[in-house]
Amino acid sequence: MTQLSNQTAIITGASSGIGEAIAHRLADQGANVVLAARRSERLQELSADIEKQYGTKAKVVETDVTNKEEVENLVKEAYDSFGSVDIFVNNAGVMLLSFLKNDHVEEWEQMVDVNIKGVLYGIHAALPTMLEQGSGHMINVSSVAGHEVFPSSTVYSATKYAVKALSMGMEKELASTNVRVTNISPGAVDTELTDHITDDDVLEMFKDRSMTPLNAEDIAAAVTYAVTQPKNVNVNEVIVRPLNQS
Ligand SMILES: NC(=O)c1ccc[n+]([C@@H]2O[C@H](COP(=O)([O-])OP(=O)(O)OC[C@H]3O[C@@H](n4cnc5c(N)ncnc54)[C@H](OP(=O)(O)O)[C@@H]3O)[C@@H](O)[C@H]2O)c1
Repeated sequence: MTQLSNQTAIITGASSGIGEAIAHRLADQGANVVLAARRSERLQELSADIEKQYGTKAKVVETDVTNKEEVENLVKEAYDSFGSVDIFVNNAGVMLLSFLKNDHVEEWEQMVDVNIKGVLYGIHAALPTMLEQGSGHMINVSSVAGHEVFPSSTVYSATKYAVKALSMGMEKELASTNVRVTNISPGAVDTELTDHITDDDVLEMFKDRSMTPLNAEDIAAAVTYAVTQPKNVNVNEVIVRPLNQS
């Protein structure tokens, strides 16, 4: 029997990068996984891979995390299918780096909607079930940019500081329940995250960067560590940077 047998894990942003790697790792530990994102064809492929590789169930629920009703439906579908919600990974996010002077106001709004409101909707939808069950684990994916700010990360960092604040508040408010909370803060990871940046000044700045990023699996390993500790252990904060990133 593997460590997460009979547990249900919901992962937002499971269609690529870190979320996809987390889904693999948790399924490998025996969890049934519920895969959420907008690109459902990618989720269907992932679901088939997971069921074939690990023999656990992988359910797809197409979800836009900026839509409260869709996130409520995600949790309901998970609960109706598997009878519990044990792990909820608030991972979906966008990093539309830009300099404030370039005024990418629609991208600021998108980051607030996905990175902050999306996480709040996840808490709103999953926490009542966890409290009722008397157990559960919320994982919030923040960032090293939720601990420090660098030029062009100002608004992205503001959203990731907000995720960190939500995690800290949850830790304290939920301390007397059996609901655990982990804030995961990755440094640079090789995913599709930077593909959506449109600010030419940022793209120019990135040309000169030489750094070897982490793999998504490195972050999935940190999530697996947090959720497989003994039930009385609350791993509240994990920061994972590539060795050559200060
Ligand atoms: N890569 C890094 O260097 C790094 C560093 C620190 C923190 N992070 C954080 O890690 C998380 C995962 O990012 P990643 O690096 O794996 O990037 P990624 O490969 O671009 O994955 C982002 C995921 O978020 C989903 N997403 C975006 N908008 C969404 C929406 N409105 N509704 C539902 N899902 C949405 C995407 O799915 P769809 O497009 O299919 O909806 C995708 O699955 C993010 O929160 C990011 O801020 C990443």
